[in-house]
Amino acid sequence: MDSPFKADILKGKVALLTGGGSGIGFEIAKQFGNHGASIAIMGRRQQVLDSAVSVLQSLGIQAVGFVGDVRKMDDANRTVESTFQHFGRLDILVNGAAGNFLVSSEDLSPNGFKTVMDIDTVGTFTMCHEALKYLKKDGLGKKSSDGGGIILNISATLHYTASWYQIHVSAAKAAVDAITRNLSLEWGTDYDIRVNGIAPGPIADATGVSKLAPDEIDFQARDLVMPLFKFGEKWDIAMAAIYLASDAGKYVNGTTLVVDGGIWLSRPRYLPKDAVKQLSRVVEKRSREVPTGLPTSKL
Ligand code: COA
Repeated sequence: MDSPFKADILKGKVALLTGGGSGIGFEIAKQFGNHGASIAIMGRRQQVLDSAVSVLQSLGIQAVGFVGDVRKMDDANRTVESTFQHFGRLDILVNGAAGNFLVSSEDLSPNGFKTVMDIDTVGTFTMCHEALKYLKKDGLGKKSSDGGGIILNISATLHYTASWYQIHVSAAKAAVDAITRNLSLEWGTDYDIRVNGIAPGPIADATGVSKLAPDEIDFQARDLVMPLFKFGEKWDIAMAAIYLASDAGKYVNGTTLVVDGGIWLSRPRYLPKDAVKQLSRVVEKRSREVPTGLPTSKL
């Protein structure tokens, strides 16, 4: 699908994306590149990074990959420094690296919980922290005419209510949203950096869906089909990212944009629709016959 944005909307910008070698992160990298940005991607697997970089380069995008794990302070530091060395500036940081799996709370070890917190939450903060000196207005590599940079944190909607078997991911993403808000306040004020998030819904062909809603689960049989349910595309998330990262979103700061077609608002109904309709008619009829609050014996 064609982009509604001008092809040069991110021209001259340098973006670093964690988890940028595959899935949603890669699509954001590709679309940022298609709109003029130079791209650095960080991930744990050399092979994945190599093939992602060669796809980006084949599209005419300036791209480089750095192997690293956001849980390791040295990797985070080295990746940010290398991105700066390579491109001479850093304008946009996208924190997309995440870990997740389905597991009930009683079967989840504290170390399993901590592992996801370390990747999603601590990893996000670490990357922001390391990137600050380049992202801030008048930071290293910035021209005096440049404003501050942009941070985008990829989140989720799981924690808006509660989600089965994802206590670790819900806790981690709730904390990511807190990071988004707090940094937007502090760094927006002090350094002209806008910090926003995106909470994707179920995206076709993305790792999150294959791990959290695997084909083995029969959603129909388990009564989990929701009225608004439909898959999104990675493109939908990338377009939201361009909006937030470009001047189109220049007045947006500290928000996490839900891009899910409204799914999180809906929940499985405990009564089938027809049963509700019938029940409602019975209740209405009764209320017309018996004034509210008056026991039948008084009539
Ligand atoms: N169910 C329950 N616990 C699990 C688990 C699962 N499916 N997978 C990992 N864990 C637990 C481990 O048991 C371990 O805890 P323990 O030491 O108490 O046994 C802890 O998590 C760390 O596991 P380990 O395999 O050493 O971690 P890792 O760093 O190699 O793997 C993960 C990281 C756990 C996030 C892994 O799922 C992963 O690499 N995923 C790919 C990235 C991803 O999920 N992306 C999703 C994008 S939406």
